[in-house]
Amino acid sequence: MLAVLILYANWAAYQGNNYQVGGYLSPLYSPLLTPEWFPFSPAFLILLPPVLFRATCYYYRKAYYRSYFLDPPACAVAEFHRKQYHGETAFPLILQNLHRYLFFITLCYLPFLWHDVFNATRFEGSFGIGVGTLVILINAAALTLYSFSCHSARHLVGGNVDCFSCSAFNRARHRAWIGASLLNERHMLFAWVSFFAVCGADLYVRLVASGVIRDLRLL
Ligand code: FES
Repeated sequence: MLAVLILYANWAAYQGNNYQVGGYLSPLYSPLLTPEWFPFSPAFLILLPPVLFRATCYYYRKAYYRSYFLDPPACAVAEFHRKQYHGETAFPLILQNLHRYLFFITLCYLPFLWHDVFNATRFEGSFGIGVGTLVILINAAALTLYSFSCHSARHLVGGNVDCFSCSAFNRARHRAWIGASLLNERHMLFAWVSFFAVCGADLYVRLVASGVIRDLRLL
């Protein structure tokens, strides 16, 4: 299923059309940048940080190390013999440590996604709700939960603290850390839901924009 989602996202990003209709914008193209000098799909201008963020995610690493590289093949199954193994302490896997920096970059995408939700409630200048509004709202919520359940988010609010009770600020950090930990326990769920939500929102916008289906107005 992971491969299917990856293939769909790549295909949709490559298309460069049918990514916007009315107030609806595909999340694969948000924030939308369309400079005249760029001849390719606008998705290619903005997708690299979120793609790398997801590719270096701790959960996805576990998934694709095991399922794609058989490394390790499974729990309690011995690894293949190898002379040297440095794990993520040497090139190329040391690059996985970029995840903590990509976390900060991808946080910058969230305000744009929530602005897209606002735009999805605008129908010829007045407020409204369509099925597309809900699809785009679910996507923004899922990606927000995915981001804030990240291990880097948990470390940001609660890491590098020796004493949580020693100051009012650290006590506040402790409360935030408990919240981040609760989200973090569900990170795998948010990883899957958000990937489905991104591809689903793109597919919905794409089908409406290309005239295959009509958006159903609810309000
Ligand atoms: Fe999965 Fe950071 S650990 S997004």
